[in-house]
Amino acid sequence: MSNSVIKNLLTKSFQAFKLRPMEGETSETIQAAFISELTHLQEAVRAVNAEDLSLDDTVKSIPKSNQQPVTFVDIFENSMMTMMVIIMKPGSRIPLHDHPNMYGMIKVLAGQIRVQSYTLLDEPGKIMDHHTPKNTVLSALRMPETVLSKVSSPVTLSPEIRNVHEIECICGESGDKNYAAFLDILSPPYPDADSCHYFRAEDHSQRTDGSGELRKCRLVQIECPKDYFTACSSVGPF
Ligand SMILES: [Fe+2]
Repeated sequence: MSNSVIKNLLTKSFQAFKLRPMEGETSETIQAAFISELTHLQEAVRAVNAEDLSLDDTVKSIPKSNQQPVTFVDIFENSMMTMMVIIMKPGSRIPLHDHPNMYGMIKVLAGQIRVQSYTLLDEPGKIMDHHTPKNTVLSALRMPETVLSKVSSPVTLSPEIRNVHEIECICGESGDKNYAAFLDILSPPYPDADSCHYFRAEDHSQRTDGSGELRKCRLVQIECPKDYFTACSSVGPF
């Protein structure tokens, strides 16, 4: 991997996430400073490609025994953020899950993925914790489905917008590169595996808001799908 590219991504990430407003912060100056640095990070992420991250070498370095349908390759993690590359085989999926009170950024490096995101309508940050009973039902808006490739702009999520998503690998790059891969940045990291919740989406009604895209849904909390963990040995998703 290119040290300068990684270093630049980390620098931009630190500059952005250290300015993250505290919960309930109302100062427009503080909010604006954070958004400005987040935009700089987004531009840096937009410029990253598979060669920068030595994706081919990374894939080759993964032992065959560890090559699952979904493989997580850690690049960096501290208390502020985590950065990794996620490699997916065609047909594999990361089931519907949340990122409680977190910011996130996805940039595809190879292949194509389909991302279905949901924006929660309940108050962000207070809706799920370790004490939340099973089968909790949340209201959400189903966002327009996006198909991403290496030419796509980064996709972002925040505590308020697109915080829940499902990711499916449509196809790999070509030839022997039969995988899709994307850079994934999250801040802060999941404190532990129990902090990630899984859901089943149920349409609330067939009516739309007029755009034909956004649809009110119910997200029913479920156990982590068994087929996901039998297919992937990593702790996740991220
Ligand atoms: Fe995720």
